[in-house]
Amino acid sequence: MHLERRVLITGGAGFLGSHLAERLLSDGYQVLCVDNFYTGARRNIEHLLSHPHFELLRHDITHPLFVEVDEIYNLACPASPIHYQRDPVQTTKTSVLGAINMLGLAKRLRAKVFQASTSEIYGDPTVHPQPETYWGNVNTIGPRSCYDEGKRCAETLFFDYWRQHKLQIKVARIFNTYGPRTHPNDGRVVSSFIVQALLNRDITVFGRGEQTRSFCYVDDLVDGFVRLMDSSADVTGPINLGNPGEFTILELAKLIIDFTGSRSKIVHQPLPQDDPKQRRPDISRAQETLGWAPKVPLREGLKKTIPYFETLLSQGLVQRMIAV
Ligand SMILES: NC(=O)c1ccc[n+]([C@@H]2O[C@H](COP(=O)([O-])OP(=O)(O)OC[C@H]3O[C@@H](n4cnc5c(N)ncnc54)[C@H](O)[C@@H]3O)[C@@H](O)[C@H]2O)c1
Repeated sequence: MHLERRVLITGGAGFLGSHLAERLLSDGYQVLCVDNFYTGARRNIEHLLSHPHFELLRHDITHPLFVEVDEIYNLACPASPIHYQRDPVQTTKTSVLGAINMLGLAKRLRAKVFQASTSEIYGDPTVHPQPETYWGNVNTIGPRSCYDEGKRCAETLFFDYWRQHKLQIKVARIFNTYGPRTHPNDGRVVSSFIVQALLNRDITVFGRGEQTRSFCYVDDLVDGFVRLMDSSADVTGPINLGNPGEFTILELAKLIIDFTGSRSKIVHQPLPQDDPKQRRPDISRAQETLGWAPKVPLREGLKKTIPYFETLLSQGLVQRMIAV
């Protein structure tokens, strides 16, 4: 048990943050969840509000924060293109000013600080699969740049604080993750396909659907976060966390149609600008350093995720959350 350990999760009311909060509470931590509810929802953490070791604070991390904690997980940032492109200036501010504020807090408290970085820092990669040593192929001025470059700058800040101020940093590069509590209308492929399938609507596949993605189930990812945070002081990352199993978008669509028993048809739309053709993590570093590898296969993870969307649907929430 870690009852004396106080943990701050920024973005704690989001998809990953809420699962991390559950995991840390069950491990005996005291959890302070900070969120401005830009993409997060009270619904995601409602079941935790009465927990004696859980606290919620509405706050925007682009402003300084003064709290007392031992560890900081910096997850705050809209993660899906639809959300982070809605207010791109705010996205960059959240990544960059948010990182500065959290690093400043960690410096004052001498707390360990974790950064939720992303596979997007590799851009449209020319190397497959992507090891952490790959520097990426990123457009600085495109519609995705606010996110990609914001996250890249945040990594730079983390490593400068480590070199300059000897902070204990833990940088994870997260690859596509899915599970219950992803937003039904955020354009992320797993949730979008499940919702379209459950509504028996056409499933929209960009291009010919031959681009590949890897999909990590949320419990596996959260286990990687905790292992990284608990790793020895010399482990800073960046460390890729994701599931190396590679599926084409078309394969994913067919699996979801099969598991939901849907009558949906697959329709094709033009590829969006800067859409990566292939995305797959090289997780050897995580395996060697953290003894971590994902355990939940895609089929099993989808079967755990579909009921969440069925419940939202039965409560009329999907219809309200997607503009129909
Ligand atoms: N889910 C994935 O597949 C994935 C992949 C790569 C990286 N990530 C990173 O992991 C983190 C969490 O992603 P997620 O999937 O849970 O997304 P999410 O959108 O569900 O959660 C992000 C949370 O951050 C909050 N937030 C946004 N801006 C904020 C601000 N300025 N101040 C305070 N709170 C703010 C949102 O309200 C939300 O609750 C993000 O940093 C994201 O970039 C996620």
